[in-house]
Parts: sequence; C-alpha cells; structure tokens
Amino acid sequence: MKLIRVKDYDDMSRKVANIISAQVILKPNSVLGLATGTTPIGAYKQLIDWYHKGDVDFAEVSTYNLDEYRGLTGDDPQSYRYFMNTQFFDHIDIDKANTHVPDGSNPDIEEACSSYDKMVKDAGYVDLQLLGIGRNGHIGFNEPADAFSKGTQCVDLTESTIEANSRLFDDPKDVPRQAYTMGVQTIMNARMIVVAATGEDKAQAVHDMVFGAVTPQCPASILQLHTNCVVVADDAALSLCPEQ
Ligand code: GLP
Repeated sequence: MKLIRVKDYDDMSRKVANIISAQVILKPNSVLGLATGTTPIGAYKQLIDWYHKGDVDFAEVSTYNLDEYRGLTGDDPQSYRYFMNTQFFDHIDIDKANTHVPDGSNPDIEEACSSYDKMVKDAGYVDLQLLGIGRNGHIGFNEPADAFSKGTQCVDLTESTIEANSRLFDDPKDVPRQAYTMGVQTIMNARMIVVAATGEDKAQAVHDMVFGAVTPQCPASILQLHTNCVVVADDAALSLCPEQ
C-alpha cells in the first residue's frame, strides 16, 4: 500500500483527480470503478473542470459504481445513480449507456446481483477503482462481517452506517436499510485501487485499514494485500497512524 499524505480535502481532491485523469489520458477506454459519498465529490468537480478546459475527456470511458440502495429507483434524489448523474456524468462527455450502477429498483436479489457481476466481468474488470471508506472500515457497502464477500451481494446496513448516512437524508427514517454492493473480491480484481479519506472521523478506519490485521471485521484491511493500492489521506484522517 502506498500512502500519500495531503493537507486537506481540496488537496486530496486534486491529487485523486490527477490520478484518475492520468489513467484516462493513458487509456482513453478505461473502465473506472466509481464511488459515492461526500469524499469523492471534490475529485469529480476537479475532473469536470479539467474536462471543460480540454485536458481530459471521457467519451470512451465506461464506469461501474460500487453500490446502490435497495428499493430506490435511479430518479430518486437519494439514489446513488442520481448522485452520479448530478455530481459527475451530466457534466462530462461520457456516454450514459456506458455508466453502470447496481439496479436498486430490482427486487429480485439473485438477479440484481448476478447480472451486475456478469457486467463487470464481461467488461474485463476495473482498471482503476476509486474508494471512500466508512467509519467502520466498510468499502462500498461491505460491512464488517465474519468473511470477506466475493461478488455483488445484498447487505443489511449496520446502525453506524445508517446513522452516518442519515445526514444526507431529510428524515433519518428514510435511509434505506439494505443495499446492493459490489463484493470485496470484485473490488480486489481492479488493477489499481485509490482510497480517498479525509477528516478525523475516518482516523480509526484508516489506521486499521493500513496498519491493522487483515480481517473481514475491517473490510478495507484486505487492501493491504492488493499489489497496486494507493491511499490518499489528509492529516486528520492519518492522525492515528505512525508518521511515515
Ligand atoms: C457510503 C458508501 C461508501 C462510502 C462511505 C463513506 O456508505 N457506500 O462507498 O465510501 O459511505 O462516505 P463519505 O465519503 O460520505 O464519508
């Protein structure tokens, strides 16, 4: 794992955007694995800015998002599909037909998961996977568990994740209790992984991800076993880590 220490959120956003931009410039038809949450918003803004300046374009890129709330349709403002459209895809030249998010509106768990796995596999897996990290060390919506997940699965969200994500909902009762998420094994199949983390509330999770035991109780810890994983984190998120 490579650690890149940055000053703050803006610094993190620019560095993450630089890495994604380099990937797309070097391989215009890259398959990107994308994340939601507040962490990547700044990186998406930076990429939109560079797109408008003509520095990078996404015409040939395809994307696979990590996760989606089960029970929400893509036009629901709380859905991750809606988030991706409004925060990123609507502002660049990507072909929306090449952007993929698990189908939260599909009530058939087996079908929703297996069809998403097939799509990612048929795409040859992801070139660059962008990840945030949950306060409990979750990646995508792979919550602490007794075993690492493999393919796409339907998960019950933990109380701490529901609580953390409730800030984005008008009424905390509206936070869905289940989600479809790409599995840990699929994430590990990405050829490069970039984890972005900012703020003190991520400090324990970042410490455990980088320096803790590799355990499904901290799903992000498995990234220690990936051969090309970069963590871009600010001073606050690294505050519990030994100085490098
Ligand atoms: C959600 C998402 C994760 C994300 C995490 C952290 O649970 N499913 O992909 O990494 O939140 O979100 P934030 O970046 O807002 O802290």
